[in-house]
Amino acid sequence: MKKVEDYVRSIPDFPEEGIIFRDITSVLQDADGLQLAVDSMQNLVKDLDIDVVVGTESRGFIFGVPIAYNLHKPFVPVRKKGKLPCETLAMEYDLEYGSAEIEIHTDAIKPGQKVVIVDDLIATGGTIEAAVKLVEELGGEVVKIIFLMELAGLKGRERLKGYDVASVICYDGK
Ligand code: PRP
Ligand code: MG
Repeated sequence: MKKVEDYVRSIPDFPEEGIIFRDITSVLQDADGLQLAVDSMQNLVKDLDIDVVVGTESRGFIFGVPIAYNLHKPFVPVRKKGKLPCETLAMEYDLEYGSAEIEIHTDAIKPGQKVVIVDDLIATGGTIEAAVKLVEELGGEVVKIIFLMELAGLKGRERLKGYDVASVICYDGK
């Protein structure tokens, strides 16, 4: 029986020397891999009472939507700046070089709603920390944050102290 990690392709020295890129396309392009990845992530929230699934553009959409669909819950996209057409709330976050901004529609989450945030990967945790702030500014309660993969060496969890964080695969390094 194959595990999800067996479907992840690891590419050394991409995008730069010393980095091992954990590629999810190899998971997605295998029907068993895709199903196992979605099921494994969904399993992390199966006992929770939730109202909304939030996913971050773009790879968070890949896993967030099928989980929301299976749970029969709404899906809310957090998008990169300038993509959402209605009133938005924006949050800046740091990248290795420079910064980026993500947005959410202000009417996407109602005060008191219980939210699960989904992404493919936690590296530094900057993306999800910003997504958490967006959800909370709209009055949502982040009940869990789930990832397919975690790069533990980058200590992203330390930015998410106090939150229930879970990942399917944990890699020791960066
Ligand atoms: C990647 C990945 C996570 C984020 C993790 O997204 O999909 O969202 O980086 O890094 P962090 O924990 O250091 O914030 P990226 O911004 O490359 O965009 P993509 O999802 O559109 O590929
Ligand atoms: Mg991403």
